[in-house]
Amino acid sequence: MNNKIIIINGPNLNLLGEREQSLYGDLTLSQVETNCRKIASELNMEIDFKQSNIEGELVELIQNSRNHYNGIIINAAAFTHTSVAIRDALSILKFPSIEIHISNIYKREEFRQKSLISSVVTGGIFGVGVECYNLALRAIKQILENGN
Ligand code: DQA
Repeated sequence: MNNKIIIINGPNLNLLGEREQSLYGDLTLSQVETNCRKIASELNMEIDFKQSNIEGELVELIQNSRNHYNGIIINAAAFTHTSVAIRDALSILKFPSIEIHISNIYKREEFRQKSLISSVVTGGIFGVGVECYNLALRAIKQILENGN
């Protein structure tokens, strides 16, 4: 089946619900995961949901995803703006990849307005709160089924 997706979360997203609620809302990462699981089951997709604060662990998750999944959704958090290693790992993937951000990074500090990964992923969703996770699942399903 062409329906196995990995959702990867970068640094500090383990503190969702506690950190900067005015930017990121009040749901915890585990509540976001629960919502993703509901949408995934509606869409008949299987998901794995991961978080790490460590750049190398994120690189390994991305590398290892290449033989086990059909798509990837990634909120690389602060590493979006700094990590050539994460960009390079994403470049290796041959399946659809969606970059997500809870906040609108283009409306924030200048250092956040540059994403090192946007030009190597299939597409992106940002600035719509944690709904970006659900929308990304729907988008990736669409891409896997229709190729766009
Ligand atoms: C974020 C935006 C990043 O700039 C920030 O470092 C994060 C979260 C977002 O989801 O809006 O940790 O990726």
